[in-house]
Amino acid sequence: MTSPILVTGGTGTLGRLVVLRLTAAGRAVRVLTRQTLPDADGVDFVTGNLATGAGLAEALDGVSEIVHCASDNKGDAVATRNLVGAAKPDLAQLVYISIVGTDRVGFGYVKEKLEAERIVANSGLPYSTLRATQFFDLILKGTRQLARLPVVPVPARFPVQPVDAGEVAARLAELALAEPRGEVPDMGGPQVLSFAELVRSYLRAAGRRRPVLELPLPGLKPVKAGALLVDPDRAGPAGKLTWEQFLASRVGSAPAGT
Ligand SMILES: NC(=O)c1ccc[n+]([C@@H]2O[C@H](COP(=O)([O-])OP(=O)(O)OC[C@H]3O[C@@H](n4cnc5c(N)ncnc54)[C@H](OP(=O)(O)O)[C@@H]3O)[C@@H](O)[C@H]2O)c1
Repeated sequence: MTSPILVTGGTGTLGRLVVLRLTAAGRAVRVLTRQTLPDADGVDFVTGNLATGAGLAEALDGVSEIVHCASDNKGDAVATRNLVGAAKPDLAQLVYISIVGTDRVGFGYVKEKLEAERIVANSGLPYSTLRATQFFDLILKGTRQLARLPVVPVPARFPVQPVDAGEVAARLAELALAEPRGEVPDMGGPQVLSFAELVRSYLRAAGRRRPVLELPLPGLKPVKAGALLVDPDRAGPAGKLTWEQFLASRVGSAPAGT
């Protein structure tokens, strides 16, 4: 029996999909979560908290690889420092998921991701770090909220290159099952779209009529200049699923209002 792979954030949007791919590849998976959850086929859940370090020793016991997907909206630096501090030096690999543009967006959550990337790179542990663009799920969630308004406000000139979380999960699982590679090429989706285009496609797919109002938001200069897009010099294989295909699977057949 091979040692388990620990997936932090294995209850989240991305992490759940990573767990499915690793178990499909025949690996035993352990998930660290703040919740108390019953074990399932091939997956055991350990309750803990990366912010405090609680439960980490138990979660890491006997683990050969870690896929670190846990994150909260404050950022990942403390959690990542606690995780690498508790990991055994003979760990075969730590796989970390970051965000495209961490080195170009100097504020907030994204800036913290850059710090977490550095913590991983300087940990002395063998690692692979993948930067990905925004997931369709995140955009759909935000778009659904905005579309409740009679006029949908969106930031003007805000280009994004969203990607399917399932395709990113497949890439992370592949990395976890291979040799550590350090910083690997970035992953984005197949299209660059403006925020307004994303919202208009959603409205069409959901069968809803709403005017979309593009607002010239102040600041966000790096984002408007393309900081969230994959730099061609750092690009790896892009995801294949388009935003419209994703919408068709999530929204197309659902009743209006979803
Ligand atoms: N969303 C995007 O568009 C996007 C794009 C590129 C990269 N990423 C990166 O991908 C990763 C996953 O994102 P996601 O959208 O899938 O996240 P998510 O759905 O919000 O899930 C967050 C996960 O983190 C866990 N978590 C949060 N705080 C924790 C703590 N203190 N201790 C232990 N576990 C904790 C949660 O587990 P419990 O609640 O069960 O404890 C949950 O499983 C993040 O690193 C994010 O930066 C996201």
